[in-house]
Amino acid sequence: MSIKTENLIFTLQTKHSTYQMKVSEHGHLLHLYYGPSVEDEDLSYLIPHVIRSHESNPDEAGEDRVYSLCAYPQEFSSNDAGDYRIPSIELVNGDGSYSFVGKYKSHTRYKGKYALNTLPTLFADGDEDAETLEIVLEDPVTHVSVKLLYGVFAEKDIITRAAILCNGSDHPIRLQRFLSASLDFMTSDFDLIEFFGHHYYERRTDRRPLSRGIDEIGSFRGASGHFHNPFAILCDKKTDEETGNAYGFCLMYSGNFVFGAEVDGYAQTRVAMGIHPKQFEFRLNRGECFEAPEVVLCHSSEGLSTLSHRFHRIFRENACRSEFVKASRPVLINSWEPFRFTFNTETLLKTAEESKKLGADLFVLDDGWFGQRNDEKAGLGDWVANEEKIPGGIRALSERIHALGMKFGLWFEPEMVNENSDLYRTHPDWCLQVPGRAPSRSRHQLCLDLSRPEVCDHLIQAVNKVLDEGGIDYVKWDYNRYVCDVYSVGHPADRQGEIYHRYILGLYRILNGIVKTHPHILFEGCSGGGGRFDGAMLTYFPQIWCSDNTDAPSRLVIQHGTSFAYPISSMGAHVSVCPNKKTKRTVPFKTRALTAMHGTFGYELDPAKMTEAEKAECATYTELYRKHQNLIFSGDYYRLSSPHDDSLFTAWAFVSQDKNTALVCAVLQEISIMDENCYVKVCGLEEKGMYRIAETDQILSGAALKNVGILLPHTTPQYSSFLFQLEKV
Ligand code: DGJ
Repeated sequence: MSIKTENLIFTLQTKHSTYQMKVSEHGHLLHLYYGPSVEDEDLSYLIPHVIRSHESNPDEAGEDRVYSLCAYPQEFSSNDAGDYRIPSIELVNGDGSYSFVGKYKSHTRYKGKYALNTLPTLFADGDEDAETLEIVLEDPVTHVSVKLLYGVFAEKDIITRAAILCNGSDHPIRLQRFLSASLDFMTSDFDLIEFFGHHYYERRTDRRPLSRGIDEIGSFRGASGHFHNPFAILCDKKTDEETGNAYGFCLMYSGNFVFGAEVDGYAQTRVAMGIHPKQFEFRLNRGECFEAPEVVLCHSSEGLSTLSHRFHRIFRENACRSEFVKASRPVLINSWEPFRFTFNTETLLKTAEESKKLGADLFVLDDGWFGQRNDEKAGLGDWVANEEKIPGGIRALSERIHALGMKFGLWFEPEMVNENSDLYRTHPDWCLQVPGRAPSRSRHQLCLDLSRPEVCDHLIQAVNKVLDEGGIDYVKWDYNRYVCDVYSVGHPADRQGEIYHRYILGLYRILNGIVKTHPHILFEGCSGGGGRFDGAMLTYFPQIWCSDNTDAPSRLVIQHGTSFAYPISSMGAHVSVCPNKKTKRTVPFKTRALTAMHGTFGYELDPAKMTEAEKAECATYTELYRKHQNLIFSGDYYRLSSPHDDSLFTAWAFVSQDKNTALVCAVLQEISIMDENCYVKVCGLEEKGMYRIAETDQILSGAALKNVGILLPHTTPQYSSFLFQLEKV
């Protein structure tokens, strides 16, 4: 049993970590510990018994001046009874008061993993060693209750948390903040690592020490976004890839989120994560409930590599039920970078045919195939083929592509509409728009109002029609602007604080109605590059386009950051033309190929503009990728040197689970002459094992490879790259 509940001390044990809570003598649920494994002993001695001057003492503490909610670590906090740190909950009761004091009411535990009704969560299959603990806290005055949910994947060292609020009071309440999880630590000697960026440069890594006050990141854009990712790490200051404590927090939600780390005056730390409370207000009538999205927690005492391995494993095995998650993925060629909106059936067929020479097996027709979509200003919403470009429609095209021996994929952006579209002309009220105000456009488009069931129903029907009739093997699901003007004419004035969240609920409903009803189609998520790369999306999409930036050196930074939480098998990565269209940088083909092999390999090239020799080079790397795809996807991934450091090179490795094979890649940074000696130190191998390096024909021990490293050849071209295939002898 990984959950112990003796004497109202709740101890969750995973293979290498322990999480403990305790019901206090006055019924508050205290958070005691999360960290490296300890026995099931009561750890409440870690709370010092000192009077904290100026802190409040709840009435039930009588004359005890030590008992204070602000000094004690809380499992689920509200500001009402004198805890002034980041609260998990804020609400307005029927009588206008803001009070919520959650007292322990009951608990239950069961085998298997809980699920939520409205939101995606990790799942556990029947034979998986997973357990659930539910603890109900209730306000004794209002009878508003909060059920805290804990999922324990003991073997995988993962704990999940979620929460459900139910209005048991006699009056409607207004819920203004309801975070999914918070964790209190008694000390504050931590660094925060977060993943920030923008369109074309997502998930760069920022590591900074916590200092007094609140360090907060989040999104208020209606999507998890390019700017910060709903994943963050708290770690000891000395933690590196191989050593030290690290805690990962990943929110399974694709909309507005907040992550805050607060260091208080006593140098205690509170971390809290959940739906962003800005412009959030849910009205709940008596008996109605609200679900807060799941947070996936992981602790590693062996540094950041192990933390990432655990996240990669849980996302590969417990997030998405698609048959493609563990299957080998097709090598695709995408029409966007070469053709944009300008193509016809003949150019497409020619490209598909020629791309076979590159080794590709999936041709993807990107934006521009529908309605009057000849530029960004028209057509979104009209999911019917433009017969001027594609006579006979999608079915006719897919048949011809299939006849070439290629699979066929199609781009959609279902959540959007152009005003110049039949959909908008028929339903001008179907987009988010504040009455009486002109809308804000982005990329000339408006966001459909997914908080309205009729809009969702229409989209499910319109997209499914193309999928069912078109002979489609793959879908790229794009989302190219953030919401603003968040108002729905489908809901009354006093419900407008619900629209951000209702949009996301509508989105998940659509995805359930399209993705889950087409198990044989491979779906790839996308959002103007990687603007919605989050755990919830991974429950629908086995792969997500990482970034519109296909420049290899930039991609090394983006993919490095993405790899802290998300598996390599989830990162869409393609080879594109040089000079790169965005950065104007030219890098060797091999470097572009090795960088794209750090993900789901593909091409954004026009074969008509390539020489036969270039096509043959593509075919070589496609073959290499196919040979190693299983190792790349299911091996353990190691960041051997960071593109952010001063290091002369960026290096990474994939090591098979049995440690018999490994693939090591290195790319030189922006230098043209390398006269310094560079050694790539390879982690993850069996130290006593002997490995043959195919490229150098050396045989070295795992210990030598780790401690001395592979000497990179001295070379002159900048951005040169190296691949080493290791096999245990
Ligand atoms: C943004 C995506 O990231 C691109 O790959 C491409 O699909 C365009 N949208 C099409 O509009």
